[in-house]
Amino acid sequence: SKSEIGLIGLGTMGAMLSLNIAEKGFAISVFNRTSSRTQKFHEEAGDLAERITPCKTLEDLVASIAEPRAIILMVPAGAPVDEQIAALRPLLGKDDLIIDAGNANFRDTEARAAQAEADGVPFLGIGVSGGEEGARHGPSIMGGGRKDAWDRVAHILTAIAADYEGTPCATWMGEGGAGHFVKAVHNGIEYADMQMIAEIYGIMRDGQGASASDCAAAFEAWNDGPLQSYLIEISGKVAAATDDQTGKPVLDIIQDRAGQKGTGRWTVIEAQHLGAPVPVIEAAVAARNLSALKAERERGEALFGASPVALPDGALSRDDLEQALIAGKIMCYAQGFQLLNAASAEFGWGLPMPEIARVWREGCIIRSTMLNDMAEALTAAPQDNLMFSPFFAGLIEANAPALRKVVATAVSHGLQSPALAAGLSYFDAMRTGRSTANMIQAQRDFFGAHSFQRVDKDGAHHGPWGL
Ligand code: 6PG
Repeated sequence: SKSEIGLIGLGTMGAMLSLNIAEKGFAISVFNRTSSRTQKFHEEAGDLAERITPCKTLEDLVASIAEPRAIILMVPAGAPVDEQIAALRPLLGKDDLIIDAGNANFRDTEARAAQAEADGVPFLGIGVSGGEEGARHGPSIMGGGRKDAWDRVAHILTAIAADYEGTPCATWMGEGGAGHFVKAVHNGIEYADMQMIAEIYGIMRDGQGASASDCAAAFEAWNDGPLQSYLIEISGKVAAATDDQTGKPVLDIIQDRAGQKGTGRWTVIEAQHLGAPVPVIEAAVAARNLSALKAERERGEALFGASPVALPDGALSRDDLEQALIAGKIMCYAQGFQLLNAASAEFGWGLPMPEIARVWREGCIIRSTMLNDMAEALTAAPQDNLMFSPFFAGLIEANAPALRKVVATAVSHGLQSPALAAGLSYFDAMRTGRSTANMIQAQRDFFGAHSFQRVDKDGAHHGPWGL
């Protein structure tokens, strides 16, 4: 009998997703460019091998799947996806569905969806989060493309997705590139969550002289409170780990240069296109870029001397640090959801805001307890800034003073906290009814006669510049 679905690309994510699909009872055909890998994958699949059909050629793959077919691509984002689609389409029927499950740039997905629409063939772009473990046992899935195409495979995608108290973490977000856009924002938030944690780690390590195991203990404790999340949990675990070769804490032997594949950067680029402020995410991306400048940073340290980072005893408590992270996290998510709102309006997607928070509650990298509260707040007011919901406004009132104290203390001692500082600054901007943009408007009018609006009259006005 034929398989219900196919998958191309048996890298880590593709292999894990295939095992997950097979384990949920679906027969799946798999193909990898290097067929030795396909063979090996099949041999190592154990009990699941009987539901997996390894294919040596694309023709075999296509022939082994029941019509109308559905084939998942799990190949590196960018040109490989287009190459794979170009190789596959001629072998397929008009109703056969291609699903790009990689980390595509949503603009590429929009273009591929438009091409598929023009050719009269179905196409989906789905964001899959959760790393290797998530792909194997339950990722978070953000679907995009035609709803009828999604409906054809929704039973498989919801079956393999993470489960949050009986609700699968897989949802159709909207047409075209909507799923990949939501995934990019997920990753931008992922960068920001990671950066804020790294900043707090830096304050403990450099400001307070904490050992890696002290830091681990702090993260472990916080994981029992409002910050409960996968990223806090793994931060505790990585801080507690010991290097086999040297016996030192693993953190102490890892180079301080962060990698990035581009999804966080895309979030910031798209936010700029939309004029949506996401300063916490911008700070996080910039911090990764700065981390790469190792040689320059060392040169600067030799020239200017290191900052006097040691904090006086008792300057910041562990509670201050926890609360600063809580407030920073809320600012970051408020910005992320507002970016999603802006994109939804611009691209006409009708993004389901509370559903986005819901599919992020389990399976994905940014999963956290707080996302459930966000889902509730967004259910009540989907378009509203999260910071105005009664629940989060209360949390901000309680935790923003610590954010200010932590950022002020860090800045005055040369400890870096760019993402936390951006969160604080966003908070201050968002509660400033009268900003200083009157000065900007005056300058624009002065040098370019761009005009300004008056506080006391309607219409466009010019200043008495005497030009
Ligand atoms: C996920 C992750 C994943 C991402 C990696 C690395 O949701 O599972 O976001 O998709 O590729 O975390 O991203 P960077 O290499 O850009 O850090």
